[in-house]
Amino acid sequence: TSSTALPWDLEGRRVVISAGGTRESLDPVRYLGNRSSGRQGYALARIAAHRGADVTLVAAHTADLITPAGVRLIKVGTAEEMRSVMLAEADGADAVVMAAAVADFKPVNRVEHKIKKTERDPEPVALARNPDILAEIVEARSAGKLSASLIVGFAAETGDATSSVLDHGRAKLARKGCDMLVVNAVGEGMAFEVEDNSGWLLGDDGTEERIAFGAKSLLASTLWDSVGRRLSDQ
Ligand code: CTP
Ligand code: CA
Repeated sequence: TSSTALPWDLEGRRVVISAGGTRESLDPVRYLGNRSSGRQGYALARIAAHRGADVTLVAAHTADLITPAGVRLIKVGTAEEMRSVMLAEADGADAVVMAAAVADFKPVNRVEHKIKKTERDPEPVALARNPDILAEIVEARSAGKLSASLIVGFAAETGDATSSVLDHGRAKLARKGCDMLVVNAVGEGMAFEVEDNSGWLLGDDGTEERIAFGAKSLLASTLWDSVGRRLSDQ
């Protein structure tokens, strides 16, 4: 093998990855959405497949991306749809990675017919919370309702006056209760709709690894290195 070959360390591992941004319908033609391109989730799927894993990719809306060879793709629309697919697919997985940008809120009412323009200003759109898929997978595992060896979350954070990106990441890892958290630094021209990413990989075992600025495939490789190590230690 050449020195540039990827390690073949995920053979026999089943991994489930979510990607893209969910779209929450207002009416048959309109939705609430976000700027996620799905590139990070697709890069994770491609690299995992190249390292021998059995990969299921659960994709909401993405840019026009090529489905990586050998990956099982399941398309979803809303957070509710992603939730039911992820809860079913997560069971028995070696790693579940929530790279999707799940909409936190959805319109309370999905109107059956197209909302028409009138002479008046429209009614405000009432929003309700969406299920937190990552938190539900963690809870279901704690309750013994599903088994998944490693549950990995993503967080896109900006620092603020009182806390750094890393502080926000540590707090989110604890709050979400997942095993690992990838923290992306976001801001002007960073993370969304771009090819590169940087940040931190935090583990519930206290490990903190800096992820250098680089291609989303580099971040993916760093994550699978860590996942592979943890799975072989278990
Ligand atoms: N996530 C999820 N379901 C949601 C919202 C988020 O599964 N309804 C997952 C994301 O896929 C990601 C992780 O939770 O892996 C963190 O998402 P993030 O938006 O950073 O965290 P929130 O808990 O929604 O907090 P906030 O947006 O307020 O920072
Ligand atoms: Ca959120």
